[in-house]
Amino acid sequence: MGKTEFCAYKASSHHKVLMLLFFVILCLSFFPPLSSSSSLSFDFYTGTCPAAEMMVKDTVRSASDLDPTIPGKLLRLLFHDCFVEGCDASVLLQGNGTELSDPANKSLGGFSVIDAAKRVLEIFCPETVSCADILALAARDAVEFAGGPNIQIPTGRRDGRISLAANVRPNIIDTSFTLDEMAKVFTAKGLSMDDIVTLSGAHTIGTAHCSSFNDRFKLDSNGNLTLIDSSLDRQYAAHLTKMCPSGAIDDSVTVSNDPSTPLLFDNQYYRILLEHKGLFQSDSALLNDERTRNRVLEFANNQDSFYERWAVSFSKLTGIGVKTDDEGEIRQSCSLSNNR
Ligand code: HEM
Repeated sequence: MGKTEFCAYKASSHHKVLMLLFFVILCLSFFPPLSSSSSLSFDFYTGTCPAAEMMVKDTVRSASDLDPTIPGKLLRLLFHDCFVEGCDASVLLQGNGTELSDPANKSLGGFSVIDAAKRVLEIFCPETVSCADILALAARDAVEFAGGPNIQIPTGRRDGRISLAANVRPNIIDTSFTLDEMAKVFTAKGLSMDDIVTLSGAHTIGTAHCSSFNDRFKLDSNGNLTLIDSSLDRQYAAHLTKMCPSGAIDDSVTVSNDPSTPLLFDNQYYRILLEHKGLFQSDSALLNDERTRNRVLEFANNQDSFYERWAVSFSKLTGIGVKTDDEGEIRQSCSLSNNR
């Protein structure tokens, strides 16, 4: 290649790079990222409702003082909201065929706390604070009141208008899922394998109905125990059969996810996993796979490390598919869309 040819070649490749750059910028401005959590901010209500976070916190505090099962309920409610249609309070909408009517959402609770916070906020800051933000803040506060880390999360989420039972199953994880199946759902939400381990740590508080785990063992008419899931400790399974009599068809029976410190948001969940006493098959899966085992060990040995990662993973969870700016609406009542 001669000198002029070389220069012409360089100029044309330079030109191509510039064109490519221009194209990428053009694409980015036309197709915003899937999650618009960048529009959330830490001072979103400073000008419009400066006491918003305090009002939510006070409501969660009073409710949790009266009923210590509230933190677990709020945390799970947030998870089921964010995984279906993003964190847009779609799980709160009542009516025929809404997310709430799917069996996976049957045992959700904590709705009255969100409604109570919304009522207070509608008095002091009408039509300003979204139910999606109230739920995210309430779950954040629930962790703190259960003794967990106190973290800051940005606000500015708006409430969704769509809530369909059909969207629940493809997005909510069943206890029978393998780690790969869980990872598929989490990855689709922008969450990693580490986030699965960390967020599953929520099972350090709260309870479960027998039907959520009694497929892991069987008791015959002579009282002989058969372990169907060999990753469960046999003695613990025997204990669970006593907690869940007659195969626990009766759905009124609940068992603590973490029996040693059921109300405390600590790292005990990971210690339980090490003893093969994780209540769900999906919990045990975290210990039994080399992709997640080291994190389980780390969190079991170091609560600060769990808390640090929790802050990161929880912020990611509360940023999934959020609606901002002119998307969605600010509901007047959390259980009903404005233009119903
Ligand atoms: C990784 C997959 C997960 C599966 C398979 C799963 C499954 C379940 C099941 C079956 C229950 C018991 C429901 C019942 O019988 O009443 C439960 C309870 C709970 N889950 Fe999960 N969960 C998962 C992840 C999460 C995440 C990411 C969070 C929150 C960040 C969470 C928070 C909770 C809480 C706090 C409870 C106790 C609820 C209460 O006390 O009412 N879970 N989970």
